[in-house]
Amino acid sequence: MKKHRIALIPGDGIGAEVVPAARRVLDAVTARHGIALAYDSFDWSCERYVAEGAMMPPDGLDRIRAHDAILLGAVGYPGVPDHVSLWGLLIPIRRAFRQYVNLRPIRVFDGVPSPLREARPGDVDFVVVRENVEGEYSEIGGRLNRGFPEEMAVQEAVFTRAGVTRVLDYAFELAARRGGKVTSATKSNGIVHTMPFWDELVTERAAAFPQVAWDQEHIDALAAKFVLDPARFDVVVASNLFGDILSDLAAAIAGSIGIAPAANLNPEREFPSMFEPVHGSAPDIAGLGIANPLGAIWSAAMMLDHLGHAEAAKDVTDAIAAVLAKTDVRTPDLSGTATTAELTDKLLELL
Ligand code: NAI
Ligand code: MG
Repeated sequence: MKKHRIALIPGDGIGAEVVPAARRVLDAVTARHGIALAYDSFDWSCERYVAEGAMMPPDGLDRIRAHDAILLGAVGYPGVPDHVSLWGLLIPIRRAFRQYVNLRPIRVFDGVPSPLREARPGDVDFVVVRENVEGEYSEIGGRLNRGFPEEMAVQEAVFTRAGVTRVLDYAFELAARRGGKVTSATKSNGIVHTMPFWDELVTERAAAFPQVAWDQEHIDALAAKFVLDPARFDVVVASNLFGDILSDLAAAIAGSIGIAPAANLNPEREFPSMFEPVHGSAPDIAGLGIANPLGAIWSAAMMLDHLGHAEAAKDVTDAIAAVLAKTDVRTPDLSGTATTAELTDKLLELL
């Protein structure tokens, strides 16, 4: 049996609390399925930045390039500007390893009330496919006339045919596998160059998947429909910025950001993909041992799936659903009193 090499980057704050919980679940499920994982841990974090002036060492990317996957907690800490932690670690990993798909599944679970009255368990089950390496989050631009009244900043959005096509193909293939449909997020009424180009490519790629139904919505209307009728969505594909915002909105619809998982995928598997909960380092609760581990655990399940272990992944997501549906063990973000360890223990009992 092939041994998968996993790079663990717990990061800051509750990242260092939820990654060990995910690791316990991985240990249990891989033992049962005869899957071999070998771990290397890296202390890359804001704490390291404060001590050594960099989030990761200069050869950091090379140290994890040969791993099969990366499991990350979260980075960010008060005192270190967020653009330092993001551009010093997460974004270099996403870009150097061509993780051009950011995949975020959204489910309303039985036992976790959604803030939306109409969002019922079972009905709301969709994925946001976010373009993850270009678009609005580009390094092209600059500042001019600093300190003068005419001070200015320019930030260019970059949409390439290759970059848009590959993320659309991923979304259409995913919808075909799920037997579902694609909704494309656009804003071609207001953004007159890049978004009409995006729409043209959607039409072009849709023609290659005649079995998959699709539609498109302007991002503003789409945000409203997420709230009014979340059950109508299956695969939502969006540019970097639109996908970023929509996926946090979607995580909120599902009841808690502590449950939401994400995968940064290099679908060609030329480089490792990275799995991380959607939440950040939560400095307000860090160190208290009460962080919800389910987002990290679900992310670990997505990692198993990516590594070719769909059954083991399903065991984990079934255990997440079971602990929420059948028990009242909850961390405080879900209005309970359980600790991270207690919720993980209960999930392991049900696994
Ligand atoms: P956050 O997600 O860390 O926290 C937002 C709120 O949700 C807080 O009240 C927190 O206590 C709660 N929360 C988050 N995850 C939770 C969990 N697992 N269990 C229980 N409650 C949870 O977002 P915030 O406060 O905007 O950012 C804090 C730091 O994290 C910043 O430095 C930010 O840059 C960083 N961050 C890092 C991310 C990453 O590494 N991918 C993603 C988002 C933020
Ligand atoms: Mg975000």
